[in-house]
Amino acid sequence: MLRVKQTNKFEGTVRVPGDKSISHRAVMFGALANGTTEIEGFLPGADCLSTIACFRSMGIEIEQQEDRVTVRGKGWYGLQEPVSRLDVGNSGTTIRLMSGILATQPFHAVMEGDESIAKRPMRRVVAPLRQMGAKIDGRREGEFTPLSIRGGELQGIAYTSPVASAQVKSAILLAGLQAKGETTVTEPHLSRDHTERMLQAFGVRVERDGCTVKVQGGQELQARSIQVPGDISSAAFLIAAVMVVPGSSLLIENVGINPTRTGIIDVVQQMGGKLELLNERVVNEEPVADLLVTHSELKGIEIAGDLIPRLIDEIPVIAVMATQASGRTVIRDAEELKVKETDRIATVVGQLRKFGATVTPTEDGMIIEGKTALSGATIDSMGDHRIGMAMAIAGLAASGETVIENDEAIAVSFPGFASLLEQISH
Ligand code: S3P
Repeated sequence: MLRVKQTNKFEGTVRVPGDKSISHRAVMFGALANGTTEIEGFLPGADCLSTIACFRSMGIEIEQQEDRVTVRGKGWYGLQEPVSRLDVGNSGTTIRLMSGILATQPFHAVMEGDESIAKRPMRRVVAPLRQMGAKIDGRREGEFTPLSIRGGELQGIAYTSPVASAQVKSAILLAGLQAKGETTVTEPHLSRDHTERMLQAFGVRVERDGCTVKVQGGQELQARSIQVPGDISSAAFLIAAVMVVPGSSLLIENVGINPTRTGIIDVVQQMGGKLELLNERVVNEEPVADLLVTHSELKGIEIAGDLIPRLIDEIPVIAVMATQASGRTVIRDAEELKVKETDRIATVVGQLRKFGATVTPTEDGMIIEGKTALSGATIDSMGDHRIGMAMAIAGLAASGETVIENDEAIAVSFPGFASLLEQISH
């Protein structure tokens, strides 16, 4: 259980754990590359540890000590058929990207995860991979786990995805690297492009034209060292903490500011929050900066369209900030929230109401009325790391004590979250 109380202010210079999306990809690409990949700044959260465990089960030697990882890649076809089911835990990124990788392998593998994974849609990757020639089965004709994959020779496709999803795009591109001919993926809005950037860092040719990405089959990956920047999705909770606690100011160092991820920065600035980017630089094809965040009075805004994929994981904590902003905040075009670790429209609305917030769910988002005085509440994370953390931030803005039950879920993406908050609270 995590207990949260109002604090006087947050102050100091901090770092957040490594980027989850980039950490997963560094392990996966390192395992498929020729040679040894050294990773620094790796996120030792439960999700990325699931990715490591899966590759170890396929015979890849991986040493991990906190945020340092060494992956001894044996080339694309150096994986061995796993003798038991691969356990992806809570990680959608692991199961969906691995589906693309396993679709190319000359063996059979079964993947499954926890209760949340069992409810998440898989046909979005299963359907295009089947079109490429992979034999995949799963519960309800491949919509749900366990997924059973017998890979083999694939044919390149031109796929238009109905959703802006980096997991879908990445699964198809990874399969496309070993398929015959060319593979293109077109998405309705640009989703995060870490796969494209990191593949290039591993020596693969990737072409992009607007929302279409193209790869040629038959490409190999070359091992290289990767420095993972801090996760902007984790920094988002600290940014929100500063915005809901008067007098606060933080310097958050070494945060990834890939433009496909910085919707949270745009939103905070549009709401009137003071947030400056300092010391901008590029590390392994990924832009990085230090964020200087100063408490400000916020106002409600509308969030929709292209912006949504750029901040999809931050919507729970944006909703918390919106309760403390003057006026109305409207979030639209975000139906993807329903298929995250929980149905995040339902869980955000349900949990925020326990604090006394005025929130209305809609078909594709929610409407939040501010500014509302919140009172401390007992909240269940529902096993969703970002719900646990977002509600802890709401607790900072609420009178009295807030208790987050099932707070162990937080370690999925932000191990040390509670102690970091304590360290910077004055
Ligand atoms: C991720 C992509 C996003 C995001 C998830 C991580 C990734 O999911 O919500 O936390 O690493 O590719 P979708 O691609 O399904 O939108």
